[in-house]
Amino acid sequence: MSTPSDQPLNIVAVSGGLNTPSKTESLVQNILNELSVATQINVHFIKLSEIGPLLGGAIYRNQLPQRVQDDLAAIESADALIVGTPVYRASFTGLFKHLFDFVEQTALVDVPVLLAASGGSDRHALVLEHQLRPLFSFFQAQTLPIGVYATDKDFTPEYTVKSEELKQRITLAVARALPILEWAPAKGHRAQVIKDKTQQANQQLGINKQIEQDDVLPSAAVPDLDAAENRLHAKTQKASVA
Ligand SMILES: Cc1cc2nc3c(=O)[nH]c(=O)nc-3n(C[C@H](O)[C@H](O)[C@H](O)COP(=O)(O)O)c2cc1C
Repeated sequence: MSTPSDQPLNIVAVSGGLNTPSKTESLVQNILNELSVATQINVHFIKLSEIGPLLGGAIYRNQLPQRVQDDLAAIESADALIVGTPVYRASFTGLFKHLFDFVEQTALVDVPVLLAASGGSDRHALVLEHQLRPLFSFFQAQTLPIGVYATDKDFTPEYTVKSEELKQRITLAVARALPILEWAPAKGHRAQVIKDKTQQANQQLGINKQIEQDDVLPSAAVPDLDAAENRLHAKTQKASVA
C-alpha cells in the first residue's frame, strides 16, 4: 500500500450547481469532508452558483475576469479534481461544460477525477457514465472508478445528506480513490514531463499531435480497499468485526 505523503493534496472541487443552497454543492462538500478524514488536503472550491454570471458571456479565455482565470489555473494545476453537477436535461449544466471548455486540453492528463452528480430522479444516475466520464476521458484524465450519484430524497430540506446509502457510497468512493490520489504528489514531476513533451509535440508536430505518455506515471499498485476504509471509519469497522 502506498504511504500518505507529508504534503497535503491540492484538491480542486467544482460544483456545476446554479442554485443557492445547492444539493450538488452539499454533495461535493460531503465528499471533501470524507476525504479530509483520511488525508491532508488543501481545497479550492469553485461554485458555478458564484462564478456562472461571470463566465456566461465569455467566448474567449482572455475575456474572463481574473477570478475565473484564477479558477482555471487552479483546475489546471490540481493534484486531483472532485467534480459534481446537477443533472439538467439529462446532462451536466451548460455552465459546467462552458467552464471546462476553457481548460487547456492537455492540462488534465492523468489527473485523478472523482465524478459526482445530483438529480431529481434515480433514472438519470448514468449521467456519471454517459456524460461526465466521456468529458474527462477527452482530457485524458484518470476518472476514478466509483462515482457518487444522489437524488433529492437523499437530502434534508436544509440540503444536508440524510441517507445512509449515500453516506456509504461516499465512503466507498473515497476509499477507492485514496490509493490513486496518493500518487498525486508525483504531479509536479508529471506536470513537468507533460509540459516538456507538449512543447516538443507542438514544436515538431503541431498542436494536435497526441503527446507521448510513456514513463509519465508509474503504474499504481492494486488498491487495498480494507486498509483505506479502515482509515476512514476505523472504529465502526472494528466494532462490526467484533
Ligand atoms: C433546468 C433543470 C433541468 C433538470 N433536468 C433534470 C433531468 O434531466 N434529470 C433529473 O434527474 N433531474 C433533473 N433536474 C433536477 C435537478 O437535477 C435536481 O433537483 C438537482 O439535485 C438540483 O441540484 P442543485 O440543488 O445543486 O441545484 C433538473 C432541474 C432543472 C432546474
